Order: sequence, then C-alpha cells, then structure tokens
Amino acid sequence: MRVLVTGGAGYVGSFTVRRLLAAGHEVVVVDNLSTGRREAVRGCPLRMADIRDPAGMGPVFEEFRPEAVIHFAALKSSEESLRDIGTYFGVNVTGTQNVLDLCARTGVERFVFSSSCAVYGTPQICPVDETAPVRPESPYGETKYLSERMIASYGQATGLRYANLRYFNAAGAADDASLGEYAGPAATQLLPVAVRATLGLAPALRIFGDDYPTPDGTALRDYIHVEDLAQAHVRVLEGLDTDERCGPVNLGRGQPVSVRELIDALRHVSEKDTTVTTAPRRPGDPGLSWADPDLALSRFGWRAERDLDHIVRTAWDWHTGTPASLE
Ligand SMILES: NC(=O)c1ccc[n+]([C@@H]2O[C@H](COP(=O)([O-])OP(=O)(O)OC[C@H]3O[C@@H](n4cnc5c(N)ncnc54)[C@H](O)[C@@H]3O)[C@@H](O)[C@H]2O)c1
Repeated sequence: MRVLVTGGAGYVGSFTVRRLLAAGHEVVVVDNLSTGRREAVRGCPLRMADIRDPAGMGPVFEEFRPEAVIHFAALKSSEESLRDIGTYFGVNVTGTQNVLDLCARTGVERFVFSSSCAVYGTPQICPVDETAPVRPESPYGETKYLSERMIASYGQATGLRYANLRYFNAAGAADDASLGEYAGPAATQLLPVAVRATLGLAPALRIFGDDYPTPDGTALRDYIHVEDLAQAHVRVLEGLDTDERCGPVNLGRGQPVSVRELIDALRHVSEKDTTVTTAPRRPGDPGLSWADPDLALSRFGWRAERDLDHIVRTAWDWHTGTPASLE
C-alpha cells in the first residue's frame, strides 16, 4: 500500500514507518520537525510541511496519491495544552481537518489516527474498554476526542475506513538502541524523566501524588512498548477491510504499573538508585488508568508482546547510548 505518514519523524511515527517499510509498504513522511528528528526518518522520503497549511501538504497528496494515511502529527502534552490552548486546537483539530480534507479530495481509503487514553479522563472502572464514557480533562484530550468525532463523520460521509487508536503510555526503544525517544529537559514522560534523574542530569524524580487508592499510593498506568505500538499500526492498517472494523481501539498491555514499580524496574536494570521526592497530585492526573486491550485482539489479531522489563531495559540502553536523546 502507498501510505502517507504525518508526524513520521516523531517517536511512535518513526518506529511505525520502519515496520511499514519492513512489511513492504511504500511510505512518504510529512512532518514539520517541530518535535521530530530528520535522522529518525530512514528508507523513505521526508516532505517538510505543516499540517496547518493545506497548500504545503496538497502537492504531497497529489504526487504520492496515498491509499492510506496514518496521522501522528500533533502536540501531545496535557499540561502544555492548558497554557497554549489555541496552538493545541490549531495543530490537533484544524490540522486533522486539513488532513481529512486532503484524504477526501484525493480518494484515500484508509485512515489510522493516533488518539489517546486522555479521551477517557479519569476512568470510573479499570481496565477501560472502548464503551467507557469519554470525558477528557484537558484541552489536549478534548482535541483528540474532537478529532475522533471528525474522523468518524468524514468516514460516514466519504466512505473513508478509519481506526481511532487510543494509546496508553508509549515507552521503550529499539532492541539495538538504533531508534528511540528524544526527550529534552522539558519532557514530562515518566520513563525519560526517571532516566534523567538516575543519571544525575536532574536533581530528583518528582512523584506527583503518593496518596492514591492504589497498593503503594502512586498512580497506576499502562506502559506499552513502542515496537508493539508500531506493530499494531501495521496490523490495523492492513486489517481495515470492512466498515464494521472502523471505530476506536485501545492500545495498551492491560497491565497496571505504579510509578514506584516503574522506578524499581529502572533500579533493577540500571543497577543505580533514582533520587525521588514526592509532590502533591496534579489536577487531571487519574489515579488509575489501564486498558482492556481485547478489542485490538479480536478485531485485528494484535496484542502487546513486550513486558515492563523490556520497556525499561531498551529505554535505558537508548538514553545512555544516545546522550543527545536527553538534550
Ligand atoms: N507517546 C505517547 O505516549 C502517546 C500517547 C497517546 C497518544 N499519543 C499521540 O501519538 C502521536 C505521536 O506521538 P509521539 O509520542 O510520537 O510524539 P512526537 O512529538 O514524538 O511526534 C509528533 C510528530 O508530529 C510532528 N508535528 C507536530 N506538529 C506538526 C505540524 N503542525 N505539522 C507537521 N508535523 C507536526 C512533530 O515534528 C513530530 O515528528 C501524537 O498524536 C500523540 O498525541 C502519544
């Protein structure tokens, strides 16, 4: 298939591109490199364009004539979205509509979207399945849900087959440390921040909230290895054969891991201690959030294969072998 990948120079996108190419698909990446890296795009063309600029993207669609689009390009911090709401709606919602318009105009048949567990807000019941109420608690989560609705609407109106993939927490790196996450000092993702503290690049790792109703008081999350996530995109893309398969799909391991468990796993892998301090809970941070991943298995035959140790080990190897990933 000819697959156009927006945001393919980013973390999840670059792993997915690699798997698409290995599966024999023809790929073009569109990215503005606002957070992505040129060097993460290997083996296919990178076209520089901003998804907010239809005139810049139009020629890429016209020339490449993609049969499918995987749409990663977005801004992804809940915290930052509170401070810069206009930019978040501009990139994540207007940008998505621009991409959908181009899909409709050029006859794209399949659309795979990077949504997020942020659409569930604080889940009432865990594990969360796709029928759970959707209640985003940040502008970021709202932009993802609005995009999902827009995609479903375009799907109905134009026949575009789509999957809204609700990722839980992507983490980890390639087994051979050839590709991974770039997470500078402003990053908020727990694992890179913990690695930074363990390496002494930050004074301490702050745990936000140790009074949640969980066994050790810290929040429970569902960490999924980025290679598993990438593989899910290929499966879903190839499996979007019928309209019945369209809709939201959770992508997680279905295994809750607390902040302290993650730090323990890092201690085990690194053989170093991480200095930890505790801070009050952050507004909008759910205490519990992990996926029921059964729909991804029954509909697309996908399930995550890599465990927590693998996630932490590959992240550690990547960040320690590639210091620029923390700059
Ligand atoms: N990483 C996670 O844990 C996670 C969890 C849930 C959802 N998601 C979603 O998955 C997607 C990918 O996340 P990621 O972790 O790879 O993030 P990332 O920041 O590494 O990748 C995003 C990519 O999009 C590009 N981009 C951003 N704005 C753009 C614009 N206006 N025009 C063109 N390109 C633009 C960036 O340069 C980057 O290459 C995002 O949509 C994010 O919201 C990620």
